[in-house]
Amino acid sequence: MKKNGFKLKEKWVEVPIVQGGMGVGISLGGLAGAVAKAGGVGLISTAQIGFKEPDFDQAPLVANIRAMQKEYDKARETSPFGVVGFNIMTALANYKEYVTRACELGADVIVSGAGLPVDLPAYVEGFDTAIAPIVSTVKSAKTLLRYWAKKYDRIPDLLVIEGPMAGGHLGFTTEQLAAYGEPNENVYEVEIQAILREKEKWEKEYNKKIPVVVAGGVDSREAVTRAMNLGADGVQVGTRFVTTVECDASLEYKMQYLNVDKNDIKIIKSPVGMPGRAIETPWLKRIRNGEKETIRKCHACLKHCDRKSIPYCITDALIAAAKGDMEHGLVFCGANVYKSKKLEKVAEVIDSLMK
Ligand SMILES: Cc1cc2nc3c(=O)[nH]c(=O)nc-3n(C[C@H](O)[C@H](O)[C@H](O)COP(=O)(O)O)c2cc1C
Repeated sequence: MKKNGFKLKEKWVEVPIVQGGMGVGISLGGLAGAVAKAGGVGLISTAQIGFKEPDFDQAPLVANIRAMQKEYDKARETSPFGVVGFNIMTALANYKEYVTRACELGADVIVSGAGLPVDLPAYVEGFDTAIAPIVSTVKSAKTLLRYWAKKYDRIPDLLVIEGPMAGGHLGFTTEQLAAYGEPNENVYEVEIQAILREKEKWEKEYNKKIPVVVAGGVDSREAVTRAMNLGADGVQVGTRFVTTVECDASLEYKMQYLNVDKNDIKIIKSPVGMPGRAIETPWLKRIRNGEKETIRKCHACLKHCDRKSIPYCITDALIAAAKGDMEHGLVFCGANVYKSKKLEKVAEVIDSLMK
């Protein structure tokens, strides 16, 4: 297995692990700084990042933009020279403003999924920030790579391939999830190989390497080896980093991970318009039983959200979870969450994946 790191624009990633961005409030400056310090890539999620700011309810964009600096500074305090960036979901309202702010702050990289970040190259023009789209199917990889080459004459600085075992929102239809999910998860390896062949075409065209990380269910040394043997340069990991001391989530959130039963991991419909994987908290049980929540206030988080038809507000549910309120909280998780058994340090998680 290749154990070397990879080059990300001008920086060298010593440990080929990208810590996946996790909103709301799960991967902030604490976790991202710790992962960057350990030699990986630390990602701060911008999704409603300002939820602890006093003016969040009145002016969410202002609060979020301010919090981006606070969390970035926090990560930089821990890791002045490591690789620190932002995860900015394409589906977010004010996507362009978050991207611009991340560049102004000097972020090393922006990772964007939850939709295809078609205009990301235009928004980072003039900055050194590396850009990394997340794709899940060869169809989306083809569309995006062709579009960027044609419209912006550029290729990604890093490509994230996120599979069906991942946490949070998933880039698959319910039917695709059934086809790729357990016990058929190896079927997805064919898709990974097809995506790798597609990116090789563009590498040749531009005579430039595109490092690739594979995400979704990577929870052990064996899983890292499998990804590397397929031809990846590294992995992106979310779930394993939630049960770390440095993770920014509440202790109650981490305890949900440590106590979950495999049967309590559910695929849900999200107002984002994509399926998501989550733990069945008391709140989720009510929602899955058809309860519809009264939405008191819109936090303007998504570009497209049909307030009349959604059963709950995703911002309220994710903020409640981040704060530890499981009676009202949505807890996203990866398919292998039930294997997490103890609270660890980031360095221990990285050792268990790489050594
Ligand atoms: C709690 C949680 C929140 C997440 N939030 C985001 C997010 O805001 N944006 C995003 O692109 N991916 C998000 N993800 C996906 C992760 O970044 C990562 O790619 C994925 O979880 C990898 O799979 P794993 O959790 O099995 O390691 C989230 C995942 C989890 C578990």
